[in-house]
Amino acid sequence: MNEMGTIQSVHAATTGYDVREVRKDFPILQRSIYNHPLVYLDNAASAQKPKAVIDAMTKLMTEEYANVHRGVHWLSSAATKRFEAARGTVQRFINAREDREIVFTRGATEAINLVASSWGRTNLSEGDEVVISWLEHHANIVPWQMLRQEKGIVLKVVPVADDGSLMLEEYEKLLSERTKLVAMTHMSNSIGIVTPIAEVIRLAHDRGIPVLVDACQAVTHLGVDVQALDCDFLVFSSHKLYGPTGIGVLYGKAELLSEMPPYQGGGDMISSVTFEETVYKGIPQRFEAGTPAIIEAVGFAAAIDYVNALGLENIRAHERDLLDYATQRLGEVDGLRIIGTSAEKASIVSFTLGDIHPHDIGTIVDRAGVAVRAGHHCAQPLMERFGVAGTARASFGLYNTREEVDALASALQRAQEIFG
Ligand code: ALA
Repeated sequence: MNEMGTIQSVHAATTGYDVREVRKDFPILQRSIYNHPLVYLDNAASAQKPKAVIDAMTKLMTEEYANVHRGVHWLSSAATKRFEAARGTVQRFINAREDREIVFTRGATEAINLVASSWGRTNLSEGDEVVISWLEHHANIVPWQMLRQEKGIVLKVVPVADDGSLMLEEYEKLLSERTKLVAMTHMSNSIGIVTPIAEVIRLAHDRGIPVLVDACQAVTHLGVDVQALDCDFLVFSSHKLYGPTGIGVLYGKAELLSEMPPYQGGGDMISSVTFEETVYKGIPQRFEAGTPAIIEAVGFAAAIDYVNALGLENIRAHERDLLDYATQRLGEVDGLRIIGTSAEKASIVSFTLGDIHPHDIGTIVDRAGVAVRAGHHCAQPLMERFGVAGTARASFGLYNTREEVDALASALQRAQEIFG
């Protein structure tokens, strides 16, 4: 066993985290692609699902499925209990004070659009400023630009240093009397940089400015505690957290959500309707018009239970080990440039390889069974900041191994030999 292998064994022995056992929980990891074992390194885009999630969803559909909040019949009441229990699971996972602070949305994108449409339209007017950063995903840029078009608000963007880290001093300088909201990622989806979000929130709160946190990556790789952070809004989706697609979360402090008008109207969000007047329900139902993603909510809760059972601390340590190992191994590939070199990062290595187009990199490694994302990662401004049209991105999850990092490094070496 080599030195790296020894370190991994020691890690597993001290934490009890056995990645080989963990992998058995994910049926898709047993398959092969182009006659190679699947090496799935596109977790930042969407993570694979453990059997516990698949089974929970199947069980609901097989035994207890009906619409929620509506029926007096047994099945509807059973499904409602499961749906609302899922809300409680999410609440505890991010340590929200109350379960009504958890609004189920279609995903993080819809959650940010909800805040922009409801809170933004109500509270922002011409000349008001929203501060974001260069690290944002398009989902935390475009909704604010739409509001800029509609209301004439001003978008201010915190720059990043050459190593990808957020420039905190510049952030502080951007905060002004006109700043009405800070909307910032906790962890970049494209280059893995972790922002000093607690400090970002503190500096905003010192000036009475609320903060929205995009925690799509952070919730999976770092864990979040909304009370410790004291953020005002926080968004994330289920599918990056080993749960199903089609469901995500808007967390909002109860006092903020309670003051916000609904942004979609329909069934389930009302107390009463006449042709003259509609009275809305309280939070969170007033933001959940229409039949919600019932099956997905149950799968989402099962995913959280699964992650909790493995332990976020263990997952973090395992992924840190993979990130360090990948940084070392990929650094040995000729012509490979990592974008985002700050030590404050997690689980993602974004890179270019000589002049090879990222799509060509992605295609070549795919032939070796290795799945990475190639392109701009829904973060075009950040790509521009680093002078590239796109990168190839390997993103690690709780089931990846050092051997898979080796497979990626070998495939990249081959790409270098073919194109270099
Ligand atoms: N936001 C997802 C990603 O980073 C889709 O790939």
